[in-house]
Amino acid sequence: MKLSYKDKFLPTQPEHCKFFEGDSDALSASMYNLVAKYSALEVPTDEFVISPSKEFTIEEMGSNPVLLRLLEFLVGLKQPRRVLEIGTFIGISALYMARALPPDGILVTIEKYDRFAEIAEQNFAQNVAGKKIHLLRGDAFDVLGKFKVEQPFDMIFIDGDKERYGDYFSLVDPMLAPDALVIVDDVFFHGDALNPTPSTAKGKGTQLFLEKARLTGGYLKSLLPVGNGVMLLLKRP
Ligand SMILES: C[S@@+](CC[C@H](N)C(=O)[O-])C[C@H]1O[C@@H](n2cnc3c(N)ncnc32)[C@H](O)[C@@H]1O
Repeated sequence: MKLSYKDKFLPTQPEHCKFFEGDSDALSASMYNLVAKYSALEVPTDEFVISPSKEFTIEEMGSNPVLLRLLEFLVGLKQPRRVLEIGTFIGISALYMARALPPDGILVTIEKYDRFAEIAEQNFAQNVAGKKIHLLRGDAFDVLGKFKVEQPFDMIFIDGDKERYGDYFSLVDPMLAPDALVIVDDVFFHGDALNPTPSTAKGKGTQLFLEKARLTGGYLKSLLPVGNGVMLLLKRP
């Protein structure tokens, strides 16, 4: 199947069909075009010099441009000095976030698989924003388990293995600054997390994370029905 960005965009808003004069496929494409136009969205390969992965397209594995712009927007708004990302793929979301960092800001990103990490290193080297990115290779759970936190993180984007989202949330909590922002992607897991009993391990993982987030105090929470579901948690000092 050939994916395009619109296929991952706002599948959660069938209500908009009411007034739209077209079929449901056309709705999603039209909505994408409208959002892209008024958010000045480009595809990532027009915004950065990107070497692709031969295994997965950016549409399949990367965040969609709507979320990429939101991440950039939130970094621009918050001006974090230290950002952590779990799940680099080929470095696209890292580049968008790094571009909006303050002059002394850095982004640490963790990728398990060397074949993606190598392409990400190349992508960081061929873009100015990449100079602010430090890539750590390995399983994020192990890497973070050994991590020496000299300064807390002001922002974290969780986008790695969905099965362990809840574990990551617990693991990073003590590494966060008192007013840190946590962003978690794909929490609907294509709708599986909406099922009383999810049918995939990833759907179970995101459902467990959502429950853990619900029961965890000390955060202001906002689940956005954007794309595959984006959870925002703002730590309260
Ligand atoms: C959805 S992709 C990340 C996309 C990227 N954040 C973007 O938007 O451009 C998830 C990535 O997490 C990586 N990953 C999966 N399990 C991991 C783990 N245990 N530790 C670190 N990275 C992991 C995968 O190899 C994959 O590259």
